[in-house]
Amino acid sequence: MDHFLYKNGTLHAEDVALADIAASVGTPFYVYSAATLTRHYRLFTEALSPLPHLVCFAIKSLSNVAVLKLLGDLGAGMDVVSGGEYLRAKAAGVPGDRIVFSGVGKTRDEMRLALKGGIRQFNLESEPEMRALSQVATELGVVAPVAVRVNPDVDAKTHEKIATGKKENKFGIPIDRASAVYAEIARLPGLKVVGIDVHIGSQLTELEPFELAFKKVADLTRQLRAEGHTITRLDLGGGLGIPYTRSNEAPPLPTDYGAMIKRTLGDLDVEIEIEPGRLISGNSGLMVSGVIYVKNGEDRDFLILDAAMNDLVRPSMYGAHHDIIPVVEAPAGSPTQAYDIVGPVCETGDTFAKGRDLPLLAEGDLVAFRSAGAYGAVMSSEYNTRPLIPEVLVKGDHFAVIRARPTYDEMLNRDSIPEWL
Ligand code: LLP
Repeated sequence: MDHFLYKNGTLHAEDVALADIAASVGTPFYVYSAATLTRHYRLFTEALSPLPHLVCFAIKSLSNVAVLKLLGDLGAGMDVVSGGEYLRAKAAGVPGDRIVFSGVGKTRDEMRLALKGGIRQFNLESEPEMRALSQVATELGVVAPVAVRVNPDVDAKTHEKIATGKKENKFGIPIDRASAVYAEIARLPGLKVVGIDVHIGSQLTELEPFELAFKKVADLTRQLRAEGHTITRLDLGGGLGIPYTRSNEAPPLPTDYGAMIKRTLGDLDVEIEIEPGRLISGNSGLMVSGVIYVKNGEDRDFLILDAAMNDLVRPSMYGAHHDIIPVVEAPAGSPTQAYDIVGPVCETGDTFAKGRDLPLLAEGDLVAFRSAGAYGAVMSSEYNTRPLIPEVLVKGDHFAVIRARPTYDEMLNRDSIPEWL
């Protein structure tokens, strides 16, 4: 459920008409609903209760500091994968002891940043990284809390670009090497084991792959404890999928996911951490765009929007589907037309949808891309020197720009011409 509904025939974000935002900030823009973000975060905390747990929002899915503040104030932890994301979490007021540092290639500088600023745990992904962290922590005279990300060799049954838990993927340490790696950590200075980490992929639409992976983690927990390690936390990663269309089969709900976690890991006396991104942010955001032209081609009609692949790359990058709906609701029974919906960027791949049925649209009309809160704004670029589009947050009948559209001057002034040229 989200808070983007038609009221009086026009699409609203909570109590704000999208047309009003468009009139104020121009199109295209992203808009997020505070009520939906809050609701989705709470679904997880309710699903995991009464187990001790921390829901660490995967910042990579939506990293605006205002959104992080909203979630942080509700008690969320944060899952970060770079120094920049770490600083975003801190800028949102999230304390270090609620920040988990994931990612395959943490640099020594990033490790230093997090160790100085405070960190809940590093999720280690390789032996060289483990040795680097040991050195950095020792130099700083501190002890780094660590979990090792194990690769359970489980098929997540999702898009190949976002599956991470098979042995051919670059992520984690093969689960059968875990025992040796934990033994080395115990010998190294500056490191302290706190738990085990696993993340098998994103947009999973079944619970079975999670359950297979979590059972392996349960067995590993018992084994490592028997070998003398202190395992107090299990970080289960993110990955629970969302419905991208209203018609397709609904992925499992957080309650089902929580029940499965309790069933497979509930008796281990550990704190559960999860790192959901998409399920919290995905359906909490829309991208709103205006129609520049309707171009009647030879065998098809093109809807040329002012948003393009640089603003929302998921369709061209993964062939992803986003529902696209008119901001002004068409009366029931209105005629529809099949459009190829494209952006102005000079690539054929700049296509959002082909042959999509929509009510008849004209220049200046607005459309909204649903489910665009996750991996939307964060993956945008300035390709074709198109300014990054603004982000807007709505709460009740308030809205505010939480990232402004840069001016052309701001964009051009980032380049410099050497004096010797
Ligand atoms: N934890 C780790 C270690 C991750 O790598 C990810 C996502 C998450 C948590 C959050 O996963 P989520 O709950 O959002 O599925 N750009 C792609 C998705 C890439 C996901 C990368 N890792 C897309 O647009 O579908």
